Amino acid sequence: MTQPAALSSGPEAPSGPPSGIQQPAAQTMDREANPIDWPDARLLCPGDIWRDTSGEVIQAHGGGILRHGGAYYWFGEDKSGPTTLNARNAARVPFRGIRAYRSTDLVAWHPLGTVLHPADDDPSHPLHPSKVVERPKVIYNDAGDHFVMWFKAGGADYEYMHLGVATSRAIAGPYQFRHAGPPNGLRAGDFAVQRDADGSAYLIHPSDRFSVMIVARLNDAATGVSGELSRVLRSSGGYEGHEAPAVFQRDGRWYMITSRVSGWAPNPCRVCVAERLTGPWEVMGELCDPQETSDTFASQPACVLQPDTRNGTCIYVGDRWSRESLGDSRYVWLPLVWEGDRPWLRWQERWSPHDHTIGVDSLGCP
Ligand code: GAL
Repeated sequence: MTQPAALSSGPEAPSGPPSGIQQPAAQTMDREANPIDWPDARLLCPGDIWRDTSGEVIQAHGGGILRHGGAYYWFGEDKSGPTTLNARNAARVPFRGIRAYRSTDLVAWHPLGTVLHPADDDPSHPLHPSKVVERPKVIYNDAGDHFVMWFKAGGADYEYMHLGVATSRAIAGPYQFRHAGPPNGLRAGDFAVQRDADGSAYLIHPSDRFSVMIVARLNDAATGVSGELSRVLRSSGGYEGHEAPAVFQRDGRWYMITSRVSGWAPNPCRVCVAERLTGPWEVMGELCDPQETSDTFASQPACVLQPDTRNGTCIYVGDRWSRESLGDSRYVWLPLVWEGDRPWLRWQERWSPHDHTIGVDSLGCP
């Protein structure tokens, strides 16, 4: 990819530390000398500080991204509170809310504020600041004309791990809490929500000490489980188990990127494949070349984004957790590189989502 000579902060960029999302300076950029045309020069720099269009550092960790009405909506954890250690010596922040951002080019993200608020006054509520609320994923239910947000709902010490549901008529919320509990009576954890070709939606989450992945069909409203489930990717569990599933489909096959199990510490992710979402699934291999990285470029999957393109681009959306200060965790987004039907994650210092699409309208607003 051709790099712009020297990008300075653009008109929308705030003063302060440089943003990992680089905006070109319209007045100073020599467009003849620089083959990257506006807005192609907008670049993502994995692992840098990413700011929204108002200049604030983006707080959307463990995120999920939904395309709706010609724009992308990024939902994620606001981890800007103080990082403390819980009773098990693991890092945590008080739950401050789930934030959302909107973009039409995957680079300039406009803040929509907090869309799921903490329940400050009720210590027993799953959304109380003392609890763990992580990894929001939103899907649209067109039959019910509402948006459904699923999230991890755990105790302060992760002593239990449930999933919760909140719904909203508007994509940007506010989302109303509905319920939280163990799906199908099972302990859950990091999860994905995925629609199959027939419109059925599924939860995919580890259980039983990470020794199995559950693929559980949701009810028609996508607000609860239907009771139908399959158990896939059985393993010895523990570190060698699968967590942080990011599920996507390409050329009729299903793929799942999973991390191993080491809390906030990054580890080598694997890629799994299946003909059907409900399995059977098999491990295809490591996601990254071990010569290049032994810990997925210090990141863990949040989801895989498939922008509406004709060239099948799949973007790995990951978190680079900072255990000392969780709010300073960074984002690692990279396009997957395909060798036949085998995806790889390869490092790029900076890249443009625009380069991976055919035609401006495939990423922009129609
Ligand atoms: C990770 C998980 C995060 C968080 C963390 C706590 O494995 O993906 O969402 O729960 O563990 O240790």
